[in-house]
Amino acid sequence: MIYTIILIVVILYFVSLIVRDIGSNPLAEADSTEPPAQTDFVPKTLCKFNGKDDPKVYLAIEGVVFDVTAGKGFYGPGGPYENFAGRDASRGLALNSFDPAVLTSLDEPLDTLEGLSTEERESLLNWKSHFGNKYTVVGTLSNP
Ligand code: HEM
Repeated sequence: MIYTIILIVVILYFVSLIVRDIGSNPLAEADSTEPPAQTDFVPKTLCKFNGKDDPKVYLAIEGVVFDVTAGKGFYGPGGPYENFAGRDASRGLALNSFDPAVLTSLDEPLDTLEGLSTEERESLLNWKSHFGNKYTVVGTLSNP
């Protein structure tokens, strides 16, 4: 009899653990949260997200804006790729160049990426997929 009671207590204990685990299922929590807000940027509204004027760092690739704040060491002030912060980084990534002169000035229409070679387009695609796997998309970049 005593063994039956112990067995029931042990079973109830494990059932309670399982129920608690289901209750704290991160997927269940993710389902109940809203998707991150998306913003429509133009070059002059994106440029403040450079880690200085705003602590967040964003950059755009082919019109898709990524939150790269987690990579602030790369893109934040003094980082090796800070030229991309708050900017359309497409041509720089295509050309594997961090020369700021490669990027379109904020007053000009967005770079249409005309004249890129097949290899340069491929390089850009690879970078875009790298950013897509690592960072969150927070909006789009288009002309004013
Ligand atoms: C001078 C030669 C270069 C060296 C030694 C170098 C080194 C590195 C290293 C060590 C990483 C980190 C990789 C990781 O752990 O994920 C990295 C990432 C990166 N590099 Fe370079 N790099 C060089 C040139 C360039 C150039 C010319 C560009 C211009 C487009 C560039 C753009 C990037 C970007 C965008 C990342 C990804 C950072 C991220 O994941 O957010 N690199 N580089």
